[in-house]
Amino acid sequence: MITTSLPISARFILLVFLSSCYLACHAKDHHCEPSSCGDIHNISYPFRLNDDPHKCGDSRYNLSCENNLTVVHLYSGKYYVRAINYENYTIRVVDANVREDNCSSIPRYSLATYNFSDVDPYSMFLKRAIQTSRERLPLSKAIIFISCETQLVNSPLYVDTAPCIDAASRHSFVIIGSLNVSDLRDSCRIELMVLTSSWIGTNCSYVDIHNMMLYGFELSWLPIYNRRPLGQIWIAMLTLIPTKLIVIVRISQA
Ligand SMILES: *[C@@H]1O[C@H](CO)[C@@H](O)[C@H](O)[C@H]1NC(C)=O
Ligand SMILES: *[C@@H]1O[C@H](CO)[C@@H](O)[C@H](O)[C@H]1NC(C)=O
Ligand SMILES: *[C@@H]1O[C@H](CO)[C@@H](O)[C@H](O)[C@H]1NC(C)=O
Ligand SMILES: *[C@@H]1O[C@H](CO)[C@@H](O)[C@H](O)[C@H]1NC(C)=O
Ligand SMILES: *[C@@H]1O[C@H](CO)[C@@H](O)[C@H](O)[C@H]1NC(C)=O
Ligand SMILES: *[C@@H]1O[C@H](CO)[C@@H](O)[C@H](O)[C@H]1NC(C)=O
Ligand SMILES: *[C@@H]1O[C@H](CO)[C@@H](O)[C@H](O)[C@H]1NC(C)=O
Ligand SMILES: *[C@@H]1O[C@H](CO)[C@@H](O)[C@H](O)[C@H]1NC(C)=O
Repeated sequence: MITTSLPISARFILLVFLSSCYLACHAKDHHCEPSSCGDIHNISYPFRLNDDPHKCGDSRYNLSCENNLTVVHLYSGKYYVRAINYENYTIRVVDANVREDNCSSIPRYSLATYNFSDVDPYSMFLKRAIQTSRERLPLSKAIIFISCETQLVNSPLYVDTAPCIDAASRHSFVIIGSLNVSDLRDSCRIELMVLTSSWIGTNCSYVDIHNMMLYGFELSWLPIYNRRPLGQIWIAMLTLIPTKLIVIVRISQA
């Protein structure tokens, strides 16, 4: 923090120095040629491939390339990168266990709100306005796998997973979106909770839901409110200082 005892001119010089450093440091990242892996041709800042030179990208956004598939690890899970959208700061990923030609294949691990914390590199939400607002746009909705002791009839909410998934003794269903506790029948329990950013209508079959998992889900890499990179804090201070200067000028005029 800059102490208030610094003269204004010193503060100004310090800010000019810091802001030019900010620009220079970020310009350096962009000097790396974009990396490419399979269908993902434009891997650039903040992303990097594991074997890129160290100066490229941000090490929290390491990706690896396995058999021409771009891989990202999130917590215990392994995911394939389907798209990186630099315009809206999102990355779309698919659980590595979900196979196109096999509707019995399901994600290995649950992934839901409770896995993500504010200090993690990826978020399930997109911030609408970067600095001014805490408004958050959800990028995905939940696919909830449920197993029940009895067959459920006349429940439009529950989609039967048979014949794709046939739990030996229990009956397996999925619900899309949110689940109210009151909607969870006594004989049922939640088995798995995953995400999708595909917005197929409500009246769908389990094969549709499997396709939604194959489309994957979007995450955002925009830094969250409390954890802005240092450079952005300086920029924010740059916008604060002129108002202070105006106040000082007004006082001396009075
Ligand atoms: C690749 O991403 C950069 C931003 O990191 C963008 O400026 C550039 O236009 C993109 N190129 C292509 C071919 O999408
Ligand atoms: C990313 O890769 C670099 C170099 O390969 C390594 O030093 C760093 O620890 C990795 N970061 C993560 C989060 O895996
Ligand atoms: C990856 O793709 C490149 C170019 O399309 C191809 O030459 C190479 O054989 C592929 N490698 C694997 C392991 O599929
Ligand atoms: C998300 O958290 C749940 C509950 O702690 C855990 O079982 C699951 O493995 C986590 N998901 C991943 C991908 O690590
Ligand atoms: C981000 O951009 C991609 C590609 O244009 C698009 O498919 C996706 O829906 C966008 N996501 C959001 C949250 O706007
Ligand atoms: C389909 O996926 C299921 C679950 O992962 C697996 O047990 C089964 O062997 C797979 N079938 C084929 C034909 O790969
Ligand atoms: C959960 O309950 C709320 C309020 O009672 C209702 O608006 C919402 O549609 C319910 N959600 C589901 C998935 O049934
Ligand atoms: C849902 O799909 C079933 C079978 O495809 C059809 O009979 C039914 O009319 C549909 N319901 C709605 C509300 O679209």
